[in-house]
Amino acid sequence: MGNNSNNNQREGWSTRIGFVLAAAGSAVGLGNIWRFPYVAGVNGGAAFLLIYLVTIGLIGYPLFLNEMLLGRKTQKNPVGAFRALAPGAPWWLVGALGVLTGFVILSYYSVVAGWALHYTWRALFEGFSPAADYSAEFGSLISSPGTLLLCHLVFMILCVAVISAGVVKGIEKCVFYLMPLLLVLMVAVIVRAVTIPGAGRGIAFFLRPDWSRVTAGTFLDAIAQSFFTLSLGMGAILTYGSYLRRRESAARDALEVVAMDTGIAILAGFAIFPAVFALGFEAAQGPGLTFVTLPAVFARMAMGRAAGFVFFLVLSIAALTSGISLLEVVVAWAMDEKGLKRFRAALSSGFVIFLAGIPAILGYSGWSGVRILGMDILDSYDWLVNSVFLPLGGLLAALFTGYVWTASKAAVDCELGDPASAWIRIWGFLIRYLIPAAIILIMVSGLANKFFG
Ligand code: TRP
Repeated sequence: MGNNSNNNQREGWSTRIGFVLAAAGSAVGLGNIWRFPYVAGVNGGAAFLLIYLVTIGLIGYPLFLNEMLLGRKTQKNPVGAFRALAPGAPWWLVGALGVLTGFVILSYYSVVAGWALHYTWRALFEGFSPAADYSAEFGSLISSPGTLLLCHLVFMILCVAVISAGVVKGIEKCVFYLMPLLLVLMVAVIVRAVTIPGAGRGIAFFLRPDWSRVTAGTFLDAIAQSFFTLSLGMGAILTYGSYLRRRESAARDALEVVAMDTGIAILAGFAIFPAVFALGFEAAQGPGLTFVTLPAVFARMAMGRAAGFVFFLVLSIAALTSGISLLEVVVAWAMDEKGLKRFRAALSSGFVIFLAGIPAILGYSGWSGVRILGMDILDSYDWLVNSVFLPLGGLLAALFTGYVWTASKAAVDCELGDPASAWIRIWGFLIRYLIPAAIILIMVSGLANKFFG
């Protein structure tokens, strides 16, 4: 079943930058703009940033390159890729876990993206008022299933529309316009934020390390953040890599994507902390930073409505270019392995993912009595993905290349240069030893925390 005629007409990126922007689009998402600033805020600002940069270099980049090469070599979806490199062995299950993970992530990612769409709309048509209680308002939004269903549906329709149009006319075209737009809009928000009187304290928080807030947990948060932000552990980068034609610059492409992703996360810090500090709010207050603190901040600053609109638009765009990469994993699998045509694959998987997101919405209203391991439904999806599925997928993919395919064979197969060169050996060492050890550590401590903490 694995090798049907679809592979003969498999699409590929039309330009080198097409892949780089698409992969950066996948990487840059809610993780950079919503999650990174609040995790950094809780973990001591610049101190977290420094630790995060090290984990990106030692764990994120090598794993990103790994997934990219697995796709590039096999030109297949995650299931087909492992099957092609290890015929007859059960490694294809790693690919299957990835497809399942993509399905689960998109089902709740789309719900959170729906919140961003709602706030974009809200900034445009109503603006923000200093008198409002944004914590109560956020609470009332997430407990309104009607509004949320509509936003979730709109987001899924956008993803299906882009993916139906194909790799070149859909994904590549979309990121070609949206990624530069995202950067320009982000810079506009930063200019507004850093020119507020008192912004300096926020900049200092983000640039001057506060080591007193660094604990063992900070390192674990940094590793988990590197995984999520680079879209690792479930075959999204593998799938995008499978549309690469044979060329020699895989290591450079990977470096560019990782640099863009890290750059946007840092820019998000500069967009958020100066305004938060200047207007007297707390930076260390957790996930509500984007949806509770920021509306209150925008309500209190000059041109706040425009800044708020642009900020939430940036968040929505970033979510869309990530959402399409998640859907593409499922669609590539349905096309390659099940022989579906692209449009049918996109529509049917989009529909099922939409349905799977509904419980995550209802978890805040009609089904708020449902608790899974003490969490509401959306948090339990997120926990399952971040604490179990992604680390497990990343671990198995690293072990596969480290011990089955091997770094030196990968270097030859993908023309990375001399397989005996120092950097290939370092890469091989990282994926064989350091990365598996680090991943096992975060999984064990995450699980122990949940069940015994
Ligand atoms: N990287 C995206 C973000 O930071 C989220 C994302 C997209 C993702 N595709 C993924 C996360 C695949 C894990 C795996 O928001």
